[in-house]
This record gives sequence, structure tokens and C-alpha cells, in this order.
Amino acid sequence: MTSSLHPLLLQLLLLLPLSPPPSASAARFACGGGTCQSLLGYAPPNATTLAEVKSLFQLRSLRGSLLAPNSLPLSTPSSLPLPLPAASLLRLRLPCSCSRGVGASFRRPLYMVKAGDTLDAIARGTFAGFVTSGEIAAANNLSDPNRVAVGQQLYVPLPCSCDAVGGEEVVHYAHAVAAGSSVARIAAEFGTTEETLMRLNGIKDPNGLQAGQILDVPLRACSSSISSTSIDRNLRVPNGSYILTANNCVLCSCSSSSWQLDCHPTQGISSSTCPAAMCGNMYLGNTSSSSPCERATCAYTGYTNKTSSFAILTNLTIQSLCNTSGAPPLSQPTSGAALRLGLQGVKLTELLIFFHIALLCLAFLSRC
Ligand SMILES: *[C@@H]1O[C@H](CO)[C@@H](O)[C@H](O)[C@H]1NC(C)=O
Ligand SMILES: *[C@@H]1O[C@H](CO)[C@@H](O)[C@H](O)[C@H]1NC(C)=O
Ligand SMILES: *[C@@H]1O[C@H](CO)[C@@H](O)[C@H](O)[C@H]1NC(C)=O
Ligand SMILES: *[C@@H]1O[C@H](CO)[C@@H](O)[C@H](O)[C@H]1NC(C)=O
Ligand SMILES: *[C@@H]1O[C@H](CO)[C@@H](O)[C@H](O)[C@H]1NC(C)=O
Ligand SMILES: *[C@@H]1O[C@H](CO)[C@@H](O)[C@H](O)[C@H]1NC(C)=O
Ligand SMILES: *[C@@H]1O[C@H](CO)[C@@H](O)[C@H](O)[C@H]1NC(C)=O
Repeated sequence: MTSSLHPLLLQLLLLLPLSPPPSASAARFACGGGTCQSLLGYAPPNATTLAEVKSLFQLRSLRGSLLAPNSLPLSTPSSLPLPLPAASLLRLRLPCSCSRGVGASFRRPLYMVKAGDTLDAIARGTFAGFVTSGEIAAANNLSDPNRVAVGQQLYVPLPCSCDAVGGEEVVHYAHAVAAGSSVARIAAEFGTTEETLMRLNGIKDPNGLQAGQILDVPLRACSSSISSTSIDRNLRVPNGSYILTANNCVLCSCSSSSWQLDCHPTQGISSSTCPAAMCGNMYLGNTSSSSPCERATCAYTGYTNKTSSFAILTNLTIQSLCNTSGAPPLSQPTSGAALRLGLQGVKLTELLIFFHIALLCLAFLSRC
């Protein structure tokens, strides 16, 4: 695509009067509505740091927006040099807001124009082609896109979406196509299908993919079990990453083996006092097996802050691990109601465990 053009040629193109901005509206993602967290795969220039990426994209927090989506340890310093040795791309988590059928990063980043900047250099260079000069011009109501003033603040609308795909909750990932890649390779890399990618991105010819083209890639996410009344009810964690939630009191990761959120309390990273997160006598994230065929997990189901009382919600989930073909279905997770912390959850939990052991015993009489 034009990204490989000589800079001089690009400048000439820009000088042509009334020429439309090249590849205008290339990167908008369809989005029916709502707000969510979305991802963008950014290739940081050599010798930059996490802190510089955080500042350029005006990300909210190093941990939540950079470390967690890349599965980097929470202790990673912001001075870490980029690119990462293991991966040329860095996943940025951005708040996404949808209106008039398209998604755009919510109000940020705001970019301050520097001496020598052109709208096209900002779009293609600084923001790596995730936006076009035409989109920046439109988003900022610029009457003359060829005239930007040094010091001017420009909102840069980055592509994102909150839509479910194929009836499934996903995290949308804005992906710049690498030279020589294909729809099939991208589908395989991100665990989706060619058909889904083509439909979502309006691709007619799978062989017509261009380097630098921005694709909307839906990443399957662990989202299960969060209560619809929880403040983080939209929480979705893609495979191979984690997320900090409940005011940094809880860390949840997603493993593609079960697609169930795996949540644990954090220690010492929240600015507030974290309430105990327990199911009776089990801590959040603890599992126990009272028989070889079942596993009880104290699972996270969200948090609330009603009348200024911050509570972490949990649900004791019991899973059958044994081959139950031919036997009555036991494998659905069964649970108690959300146990508000500090209340008399213990008896309820014990009752539940007892109830499930009894059920299992019935099903596996020979073992009990
Ligand atoms: C970045 O650094 C790598 C290795 O240090 C090098 O191979 C690559 O050419 C550099 N890229 C740029 C754009 O300087
Ligand atoms: C956009 O610019 C035009 C002309 O300068 C002006 O009339 C209009 O009110 C502006 N719209 C917004 C939303 O700022
Ligand atoms: C899950 O993530 C791992 C590591 O990031 C990756 O190897 C695997 O292909 C992913 N699985 C799916 C189904 O996306
Ligand atoms: C239960 O969870 C607590 C808090 O995360 C942890 O410190 C403890 O090691 C866990 N116990 C077991 C047996 O997993
Ligand atoms: C809960 O609400 C109170 C009052 O609105 C607020 O000060 C506090 O920060 C909130 N706590 C959390 C964890 O959101
Ligand atoms: C479960 O048991 C049935 C019959 O006992 C067997 O055919 C099947 O392969 C088993 N499945 C697994 C996953 O072990
Ligand atoms: C706990 O789990 C049960 C069964 O899976 C479910 O019906 C219930 O809504 C869950 N409670 C919460 C608060 O998520």
C-alpha cells in the first residue's frame, strides 16, 4: 500500500489540490453501541519505552492498559525498553465508545501538534496508520486539513468496537496487517475464522490484503459468571492476558483451556482497602477437591459499591471432572448465590458442598 511510498512522493500527493486523503476511512470498525475496553496492536519504534507509549496514547494506567494485556509482570518498570524481545507488537487497552455505527477510542488520545508535523505524518507515522488524516480532520472539525498549528490539540480517533461477534462476547483487536500475511494466517494466529474476518472487515478478496491495512480481529474472551449487577459486568479477558478489576483488588486471567475467568485477590497494589473475597472459608481463587471427581472453586462474580460499601462478589462453583457420559449431566457449574463478604456464607457453602457430594455419590455409588 501507500505506506511504502517514498516520503517525497507522499508529500507530492498531499500537495495535489483537492486530492482526497489517501485510504480515507480505511480503519473504522462497525459498532452498534455502548462502551467497552478494546485492544490495539502497536509496533513501538526502536528504543522507546513503556512510559513513552503510555504517554503518546494517553493510557490510563501502566498496569491496566499495558502490562495486563501483554501478560507482563505487575512489577515491570515503565522504563522497560521496547520493542519486547519476544514480540514486536504491544497490545494497548483503550476505552472504546460507539456512536453512529462506528467505534472510536473514547476522547483520547489528544495529540499536541509539533513543529514540522502534518496531519498525514501524525496519522501514518506517529499513530502507525491506525487512523487516516481524513479521520483526524473530521473528528476535529478541521476546515483545512493541510493547516495544523504547532501546539494545537488534536483528538485522534483510534478504531475499536464493542459488538458481539457470532453471538459471542469478544474483545476487538485492531491489527495492522504485516507484509506477506494472509487472511488465513491472521485467522489462525488469533483463533478466529477466515469467514469471520472477511465478514467483519468487508473483505471481498482474501488475496487482496495489503500491508498496513487495519483489520478488526475478534478475540475470544473469558467473560462468564460476572453478575449483571456488578460494576464490571462488561469485563472480558482475552486468552493469554489478565485484567485488574474491583479497584485493583482482583486479578483475573483467561486460559483457553477452559474459557473460565481465573481470579485471585491481589496484594498491595490497590489504593483502597480491599474487602475480603471469600466463599465461606475458601478464598477467592482457591479450589478444593473433596472427591477425585469434583472440584469446587471460589469464583469471582463482580463487585459492588452500594451506599459506599465496597464488596467483592463470589460464587462457589462445583465442577465434575469425571467422564459422565451415560450418567445424568453433572458437569454444569452449580453454585450458591453471591455470598456477600463477612456474612454467614460458611453454612451455606458447607451445605452446598454437602449437597454436591451427595449428588456425586448418587451418581458414582461404586466410589463412595
Ligand atoms: C530496530 O532494531 C532492530 C534490532 O535491534 C533492527 O533489526 C531494526 O532494523 C531496527 N528498526 C528500525 C526501524 O530501526
Ligand atoms: C465545524 O466547523 C464549522 C465551520 O468552521 C462550524 O460552523 C461548525 O459549528 C463546527 N462544528 C463543530 C461541531 O464544532
Ligand atoms: C491462547 O493463547 C496462547 C498464548 O498466547 C496461544 O498460543 C493460543 O493459540 C491461544 N488460543 C486461542 C484459542 O486463541
Ligand atoms: C487460597 O487463596 C489465598 C489468597 O489468594 C492464598 O494465599 C492461598 O495460598 C490459597 N490457598 C490454596 C490452598 O490455594
Ligand atoms: C465507593 O464509593 C465511594 C463513595 O462514592 C468512593 O469514595 C469509593 O472510592 C468507592 N470505592 C470503590 C472501590 O469504587
Ligand atoms: C467416556 O466414557 C465413554 C464410555 O465409558 C468412552 O467411550 C469415552 O471415550 C470416554 N470419554 C473420555 C473423554 O474419556
Ligand atoms: C452463581 O452461580 C449460579 C449457577 O451457576 C447462577 O445461577 C448465579 O446467578 C450465580 N450468582 C452470581 C451472583 O453470579
